[in-house]
Amino acid sequence: MVAGFVCGAAAASGSFVGSKQMCVAPTAGASVAPRRGALRMAMNVGVKGNVSKFADELKSTADKMTLPGKGLLAVDESTATIGKRLASIGVENTEANRQAYRSLLFSCPGLGEYISGAILFEETLYQTDKAGKLFVDILNENGIVPGIKVDKGLSPLGGAEPIETWCTGLDGLAERTAAYYKQGARFAKWRAVLQISDKTPSKLSIAENTWGLARYAKICQDSGLVPIIEPEILMDGDHDIERTAEVGEEVLASVYKNCDTCGVYLEGSLLKPNMVVPGAEWKGAIQPEDIAKYTIRTLERRLPSSVPGVTFLSGGMSEEEASINLSVMNSIPRKGPWSLTFSYGRALQQSCLKSWLGKEENVKAAQDALLARARANSMANLGKYVPGSEPSLDKQGTFEKGYKY
Ligand code: 13P
Repeated sequence: MVAGFVCGAAAASGSFVGSKQMCVAPTAGASVAPRRGALRMAMNVGVKGNVSKFADELKSTADKMTLPGKGLLAVDESTATIGKRLASIGVENTEANRQAYRSLLFSCPGLGEYISGAILFEETLYQTDKAGKLFVDILNENGIVPGIKVDKGLSPLGGAEPIETWCTGLDGLAERTAAYYKQGARFAKWRAVLQISDKTPSKLSIAENTWGLARYAKICQDSGLVPIIEPEILMDGDHDIERTAEVGEEVLASVYKNCDTCGVYLEGSLLKPNMVVPGAEWKGAIQPEDIAKYTIRTLERRLPSSVPGVTFLSGGMSEEEASINLSVMNSIPRKGPWSLTFSYGRALQQSCLKSWLGKEENVKAAQDALLARARANSMANLGKYVPGSEPSLDKQGTFEKGYKY
């Protein structure tokens, strides 16, 4: 909609219309000062469907999640994936151990100073700590918004290249998101994966995965959940950073074209991309400044300014790399208005896991380790992280070929 134009019919009736043609230019001399409520309605015209019910709440949740100095803790590992994490420290993958681990994370004193939201797996959304208190309540008391991973995982994509997948979970999603909202979730995540090789990502893979993201986003918003749109381009491959940037632009263009088609309310959504880095097997040296410039260039070319925040995944980078790259990005001039922050899984949990080792007596050390990396990333969001100023037990990073989350 052109700034200053008023969609009178829609504003007056309170109904939402998808067609921008309903907007008319004010005629000379006509009063164009709508009442405050009417103005708010007018601002949301162009949003399709019934997002009107939740528009204000969606925007305020997304804004809260991207406040300065804050980012997200991704703890939505599936039962199989958390099993791998626990196995790496010699702990069995039982419900009691998952409960003990996630309990130490959520009850970490002071975590809410740096972490604004936590992405949970379905089991955790309905789980309690040992004393019977819901994790959702513990998070809320710490000022952390509970969120939920809603996709049902990746499946081979017929007709595409053999390494390509599509993301499942749209069937029954509207019913599930309504139930998750009732249980206290206020945002959601859906992870679609794209892979770079000589033949990929194929047009089919880009079309399918970005369409799924847009459909998911709209369904979440209709239930009051802020959708985190995650088109992850894996690090696998020997391509250079230019190629990652080129694919990133193509993918983001398709994501936001489809969001427009589906009527996604961008102000109430977040983007969770990979940083633009060369393939893990590329031979050469890359500096955080290069990663920052390519990542920002990609976003500035393709990400609408109405999206409030970009919450990067860590994708296998080490804890330090993830903090340094984010900090450099936030310390150089850019045109894009979004918050650039973190939504790390591996790069927030490695030191914590290694400090815990499944032992009750190590809980305090594990919480200190988590807090240290949360603080590092909080500083990085402000562009002020000093490399090495916070401890890390994760020197190697966790990149794994063909990683499954
Ligand atoms: P990593 O930071 O470990 O890549 O995970 C974040 C995430 O949520 C992936 O979907």
